[in-house]
Amino acid sequence: MSATARKSAPLPEDIRARKGGVPLVSLTAYTTPMAQAMDAHCDVVLVGDSVGMVLHGLPSTLGVTLEMMILHGRAVKRGLSKAMMVVDMPFGSYEESPQQAFRNAARVMAETGAAAVKLEGGVTMQETIRFLVQRGIPVMGHVGLTPQSINTLGGYKVQGRGAAADALIADARAVSEAGAFAVVLEKVPAALADRVTADLPIPTIGIGASAGCDGQILVVDDMLGAFTAFKPKFVKRYAALGHQAEAAIEEYAAEVRAREFPGEEHLFAEEAPEKKT
Ligand code: KIV
Repeated sequence: MSATARKSAPLPEDIRARKGGVPLVSLTAYTTPMAQAMDAHCDVVLVGDSVGMVLHGLPSTLGVTLEMMILHGRAVKRGLSKAMMVVDMPFGSYEESPQQAFRNAARVMAETGAAAVKLEGGVTMQETIRFLVQRGIPVMGHVGLTPQSINTLGGYKVQGRGAAADALIADARAVSEAGAFAVVLEKVPAALADRVTADLPIPTIGIGASAGCDGQILVVDDMLGAFTAFKPKFVKRYAALGHQAEAAIEEYAAEVRAREFPGEEHLFAEEAPEKKT
């Protein structure tokens, strides 16, 4: 069913059932107005830890806290009625143990109203994903380029090339076997993304992966051209909001300095105008 025709948000099981069907549409969101703009068009809205870079000016996602994710999750939830909301678990909130992951994921679910959490990692996170799913927390996996691990991966490199393909396939299988309802594949060769998509029983959601994935996700500020510090190759800009915002602000500044703003129509008379009956 298209997001527009839907009356209520899908559940993780509905997303899982979309394997091999019409591609799933997903974007990140961090605020109520942006969530409202995408609610009728997206199946899944991810409150991504990319919020740290695109809204808070952090150099990576590593400085994002659980409190930040909860604050933005609550804001996004207020803007959604048709799309399913997933909230990212930030760096340091789940890697230590399945128990730590459960404690923090349960807080995210209870305080934001999310339908599921997303966490990064394959084989090493299998036990944690299973622990969460068995205790009522739906999990979306994330393998390939996992930005929370840039310091051990050596930067934002394409993952799974050449001999590394087998490890990536093992990661994706581990996530699926642990009970995740979908998995994000980030920055992997297209042919490998197609292999993983054919291999897994759960939907793959690509970002820098392949049009053959079961769905696609982008960071909303990237695709709207609102985040302009850099543009990954896999991003298509559908608008240039950053440039439009700067041009509008430049015009406002010029009008203020020239005393052209505010105009007559923006001012209030001393006497209140008579009410029309
Ligand atoms: O944080 C994020 O925005 C993400 C997407 C890029 C998948 O994890």
